[in-house]
Amino acid sequence: MLLTLDRDAPTTTVDPAFRRDIIDGLRQSPKRTSARWFYDHRGSELFEAITDLPEYYPTRTETALLAAHGREVGALTGAGRAVIEFGAGSAIKTPHLLSAIAPGAYVPVDISGDFLRESSIVLAGQFPDLPVLPVEADFTDAVTLPDAVRGMPKLGFFPGSTIGNMTPYEAVDLLRAMRASLGDGAMLLIGMDRVKDEAVLVRAYDDAQGVTAAFNLNLLTRINRELHGTIPMDAFAHKAIWNDAAARIEMHLVATRSTAFTVDGVVFALEEGESIHTENSHKYGPRDARLLLRAGGWLPTHEWTDAGDQFALMLATAA
Ligand code: AVJ
Repeated sequence: MLLTLDRDAPTTTVDPAFRRDIIDGLRQSPKRTSARWFYDHRGSELFEAITDLPEYYPTRTETALLAAHGREVGALTGAGRAVIEFGAGSAIKTPHLLSAIAPGAYVPVDISGDFLRESSIVLAGQFPDLPVLPVEADFTDAVTLPDAVRGMPKLGFFPGSTIGNMTPYEAVDLLRAMRASLGDGAMLLIGMDRVKDEAVLVRAYDDAQGVTAAFNLNLLTRINRELHGTIPMDAFAHKAIWNDAAARIEMHLVATRSTAFTVDGVVFALEEGESIHTENSHKYGPRDARLLLRAGGWLPTHEWTDAGDQFALMLATAA
């Protein structure tokens, strides 16, 4: 008999924060869930597929910026910095940065220990002389860094416009937590997606192949599997809208008919047309982006964008 180990099999313990967060969010009006819960094994696979879509410009644009300007970033940061990446690291972007700046160590910080260990092993193989020191932690709080990097100057790395998932209020708190974690003399290299034509933005979050729809709907599959949910999948449709007042793309799961279900025994109901707000992806114009950094305790010093000004890579120093 062949035994296969599925990372999402019911034997894996369910994060109690997942249960609490989902039930709290579904009790609110309007209903909402946090974007962090998209990334189970299947969700991470679907996100990878999104980054390859023709409509989803952010990943390829940011990767090209790192490839084109990495040397310049390296000249500005100097050699020997400990690179602290917030998030487990992208197999493509992180090597671009590390090979351009001659770092003293690489410290990926992520809440998911499994993913962190896997990506650290791959990276350590690519950079055999670089100390790779993963830290399993929630980087929305101040992070204790490994003793080995205590004396090194730091470069925070926060690519992907992940900061866009937060409201500006939360983003400022996060930037301040990073400032506290990295200390005096630190620098930060951060990617932020720009405000742009509404149709381009909406297409990036509602692609022709339906990969983003599958990514959004996978949250319901995960709730059904991990939280004994009875959500009828056929009663929900993916929707992406541009909220101009808040300068963000919102993803929703809209009830296509009135429906009721339970999650871990708790009953929920939606009217036809009612939605669960599952993600925000805030976009920042040039001045917005600089203001956000300054409000978060960082002085922006350099920025690089593509020819179409679609995405910005920004370098800042600790204020
Ligand atoms: C990983 C948060 C940067 O907001 O563009 C992609 C996630 N959601 N398509 C983004 C996402 C739908 C992505 N971030």
